[in-house]
Amino acid sequence: MDEIETLINRFDLQEHPEGGYFKETYRSEGSIPASVLGDAFKGSRNYSTGIYFLLTSDSFSAFHRIQQDEMWHFYQGAPITIHVIHPDGKYTKHVLGLNFEEGEAPQFTVPGKCWFAAEVEKKDSYGFVGCTVSPGFDFKDFELAERDTLSSLFPRYEALIEKFTR
Ligand code: GUN
Repeated sequence: MDEIETLINRFDLQEHPEGGYFKETYRSEGSIPASVLGDAFKGSRNYSTGIYFLLTSDSFSAFHRIQQDEMWHFYQGAPITIHVIHPDGKYTKHVLGLNFEEGEAPQFTVPGKCWFAAEVEKKDSYGFVGCTVSPGFDFKDFELAERDTLSSLFPRYEALIEKFTR
């Protein structure tokens, strides 16, 4: 799709290890010292970070988790479905989009420590969103799920985990 290539070029998006394309757009100058962050973080982190994120219907964002809450903001394109497995084993599904009558919302915040994956269900399309994280994102906090390990933790969701891991 031309629109996808145009967005990738316009915003200089790069492939993300979870799938999709991203570009960091904001990283606060200030940082929070490790001593006040607690055990979840192994060092200091910026106050906050933000990215553009583009997901296409021929791919998916694979199950991953970070320690902090991640707020998603819908910008353009087709709705993005986010699948969340909470640490207590609860599963929730959220659709980011602008069709409010159908229950979609322009924002959703994935709680920290949850495993989550995302997809664009509409064929031949894409969703373009922003994701902000505070304390700021660091790949040291990013864990991509290993299929068998996640399935053995949450056997009820084996099919979902199989679909959204590589
Ligand atoms: N920076 C690099 N990858 C990510 C990500 O997945 N989320 C956020 N918020 N920032 C990032």
